[in-house]
Amino acid sequence: MAALSEEQREALINSAFEGKEFSYSPYSKFRVGAALLASDGTIIKGANIENASYGGTICAERTAIVKSAVGSSLMEIVCCPTSDSLRQSEGKRSFAALAVVTDVKSAISPCGLCRQVIREFCAQDMPILLVPADYPQFNKDSGDAEKGVKQTSIGELLPDSFGPEHLELPRGTI
Ligand code: THU
Repeated sequence: MAALSEEQREALINSAFEGKEFSYSPYSKFRVGAALLASDGTIIKGANIENASYGGTICAERTAIVKSAVGSSLMEIVCCPTSDSLRQSEGKRSFAALAVVTDVKSAISPCGLCRQVIREFCAQDMPILLVPADYPQFNKDSGDAEKGVKQTSIGELLPDSFGPEHLELPRGTI
């Protein structure tokens, strides 16, 4: 997977912070923002959206993935039937990077359910940037070039995982 440019990295991280502003988290008060860089360069933002029936909560990472995968073709029907720009937009399911940020001053890692959903759409080695809340101030004096960002991948976060290709394997007859 191609390395991210410094510009792409900054734009993606800033978008994750922007996504966090849309968090609906009245129950946990734990805001999470995510941003996905699609292969065509588009950035899609997400936030955690909680529910009074707690199990209905959707994490920021999954919000971004589902928003992206559906694209605005659904939105145009629901809210903007005459918008040309929306009509031209299509669902994106090929991604180059993901950034995740919370209000915690250390890098927070995606939950297990989100890892499995990320696994569905992202390459094993696609960069996943876990961003501390105080980025880019983090460790300003330490000379840390990563500014506290922990870079990982779904291959690291979810080793020996189950994915779409496994459904293609030959199976015994039933
Ligand atoms: N949350 C996320 O948005 N992403 C994760 O990977 C971990 C947890 C959200 C869900 C819930 O709204 C809040 O954080 C506390 O669990």
